[in-house]
Amino acid sequence: MTTPVATDLSALPTLSSTLSELNESQLNEFTAGAEALIAQTSDVASLQELRVQLTGKKSALTQWSKQMGSLDGDAKKTYGGWLHSVRSRIQVALGAQQEQLAAQALNDKLASERIDITLPARGAQKGHLHPVTMITQRMQQFFVQAGFNVATGPEVESDYYNFEALNIPSHHPARAMHDTFYFDAHYLLRTHTSPVQIRTMEQSAPPIRIICPGRVYRNDSDQTHSPMFHQLEGLMVTESSTFAELKGLINEFLEAFFGKALTVRFRPSFFPFTEPSAEVDILDDNGKWLEVMGCGMVHPKVLTNCGIDADKYTGFAFGMGIERFAMLYYGIDDLRLFFQNDVRFLKQFG
Ligand code: PHE
Repeated sequence: MTTPVATDLSALPTLSSTLSELNESQLNEFTAGAEALIAQTSDVASLQELRVQLTGKKSALTQWSKQMGSLDGDAKKTYGGWLHSVRSRIQVALGAQQEQLAAQALNDKLASERIDITLPARGAQKGHLHPVTMITQRMQQFFVQAGFNVATGPEVESDYYNFEALNIPSHHPARAMHDTFYFDAHYLLRTHTSPVQIRTMEQSAPPIRIICPGRVYRNDSDQTHSPMFHQLEGLMVTESSTFAELKGLINEFLEAFFGKALTVRFRPSFFPFTEPSAEVDILDDNGKWLEVMGCGMVHPKVLTNCGIDADKYTGFAFGMGIERFAMLYYGIDDLRLFFQNDVRFLKQFG
């Protein structure tokens, strides 16, 4: 803090404290000195201090004013006029300096808060969709264009929808392959998206064309398995669906998805809810077959379980792992990377 210069009244002429001993020129000199002191103040505190000393109760001006009562006639008029002039000049000077200091303070504040717009910007980090979401959308885009609707179902499923209705009775060995997370005897985390086939067929009449993307759960964890992963299921039921149509659709999907001509193989396989069943393989650049999905014609028992006339309608279904497609599409060899949410990994997909 700077020493307040302006509160030193020694710069002012020393005048008598007795009013009647003063003359106009002395008072003028005193006032001019006061104005000069006021104009020299450099902060609000000093100015306030000076205001007290010049116009407060103990000031010379106040002492003089108190003596007005003891004067009479012309003297009262004359001194009254002089004192009034002294006081009002000092007040005007105080007010002007007050404004000047306030303006100065504002300018200082603006200067200190000035923003240098020529400084380089702090690079904004832009987010983007998760690679699994982007792959799901890429898959959906193909099937939606082919006339399929998107359906969803619960992740907490009943034993009936996840197994029983799909022709997997409780004693069936296929159950062991699912590594199911059970809540109790009736409820479980769905192990595949196939229960959505059942829920859809129960609720709507053919023709049916749906795909169902969603989370599924299996008690399995290693480089290519995660306890939670995503599948995309497809189901089409009409009066004339054939395996040839299924093959054509899947071939077209795979080539559209990977954006190039592919060698695709339908290898006979088994699923309790499709007959015949197949697994689909694609040939990679190193001459290796890569399994990408399961499919088949909907088993007549499954159609019947859902109240659909299996003599009149036929259907096909397919199911694939979304992370598996993401790994092939992006060339990633560890599935766990998708779920660690390491920004260094994720931001490569922006
Ligand atoms: N639900 C099967 C699985 O999870 C995949 C599949 C779906 C197979 C539809 C055939 C038809 O492995």
